[in-house]
Amino acid sequence: MKKFVSIVGARPNFMKMAPVHKELLKHKKKVTHKIIHTGQHYDRKMSSVFFKELELPKPHIYLGVGSKSHAEQTALIMVKLEKILFKEKPDLVIVYGDVNSTIAAGLVCAKLYRKNGCPIPLAHVESGLRSRDRKMPEEINRILTDNIAEYLFITEKSGYENLISGGFDRRKIFFVGNTMIDSLGDYLLKAGKSGVLKNLCISKKSYALVTLHRPSNVDDKNNLNKILRILKNINKINKYTDIVFPVHPRTVKMIEKFGLKRKFEELKNLIITEPFGYINFLALIKNAKYVLTDSGGIQEETTYLKVPCITLRENTERPITITEGTNVLCGLKEEKIYNSIKKIETGKKIKSSIPKFWDGKAAQRIVHVLLNN
Ligand code: UD1
Repeated sequence: MKKFVSIVGARPNFMKMAPVHKELLKHKKKVTHKIIHTGQHYDRKMSSVFFKELELPKPHIYLGVGSKSHAEQTALIMVKLEKILFKEKPDLVIVYGDVNSTIAAGLVCAKLYRKNGCPIPLAHVESGLRSRDRKMPEEINRILTDNIAEYLFITEKSGYENLISGGFDRRKIFFVGNTMIDSLGDYLLKAGKSGVLKNLCISKKSYALVTLHRPSNVDDKNNLNKILRILKNINKINKYTDIVFPVHPRTVKMIEKFGLKRKFEELKNLIITEPFGYINFLALIKNAKYVLTDSGGIQEETTYLKVPCITLRENTERPITITEGTNVLCGLKEEKIYNSIKKIETGKKIKSSIPKFWDGKAAQRIVHVLLNN
């Protein structure tokens, strides 16, 4: 019997892990699977609601590290995890995406040697993505985790190109598709029954959905002021477009710190809410006229759902969402943003397609590789 452990910590990890967990359960005779939650995200709305809605068991082990500086958070996860993995002695550890919990877990595995003299093998789900922006903490996490992992599971072809040009062994690379899209497919039907639009008094395709949490956007007063102006101007382009803005805890903190709370609250047509759970948020993406975001995962979800996405970043590690999907990169360049919105407001459909292997079978492919290699 093999023993696999998944290590997760922050909101986007949970939907990437859920299909892998469910697929592993189908092979109970061959493998056990434990979930360790670092506690990087800990609020109900950022964490436990996702476990409930994704029908995941409570994490088997919870480290409770909470919010800290990057060094403290990464180090504390490592200290706590080392003791646990030393005791658990898993045959394999699986990590997801690019958050601090991902690299912290990877580093522990790389330095914990098993009886056979080898470190704990690591599988990286969502490997190979590169924004080439080293100021993003996630870019550092991605590069380092890939360098430690034995299994590199990629979501799009750019991942393959990045890894090959980075000198990685092609035998370690597996193009499996996107487990976040597996989850999306699994819960779309439930999202169709969500009452969230009714509760917010908005109708289908009549609103813009906004999410912002990148430090480069929200930790800078000038940029937050710019964002305020952009939201105001959405209303000038079309006064009937509502704006739904579920605010990430980091962004709440920054809006308050810079004294901008009242200014946001005074904006016409702006509906400010707390973060939504998974099902309601999927319903909000699916029915949005367009999305303005700086998230990575939402660029993929909008591509799959064929909803126009305006990304408020200068770069993306997910280029397929631009070349094949519905995404445009605008950074905080106001004219570019307004022109993109005006184009969407004409109602003309954007030509797009669903990327290769975003077909709901990524977790199946991953588990097949892990159990047969
Ligand atoms: C983290 C990830 C980012 C991911 C994002 C998704 C890293 C480096 N960043 O960013 O890649 O896109 O999660 O949300 O791993 N907070 C709460 N409650 C929580 C969690 C956080 O109030 O449950 C607040 C705290 O004030 C904290 C701040 O949000 O200081 C930022 O949280 P943190 O986990 O450090 O980074 P995120 O911005 O969430």
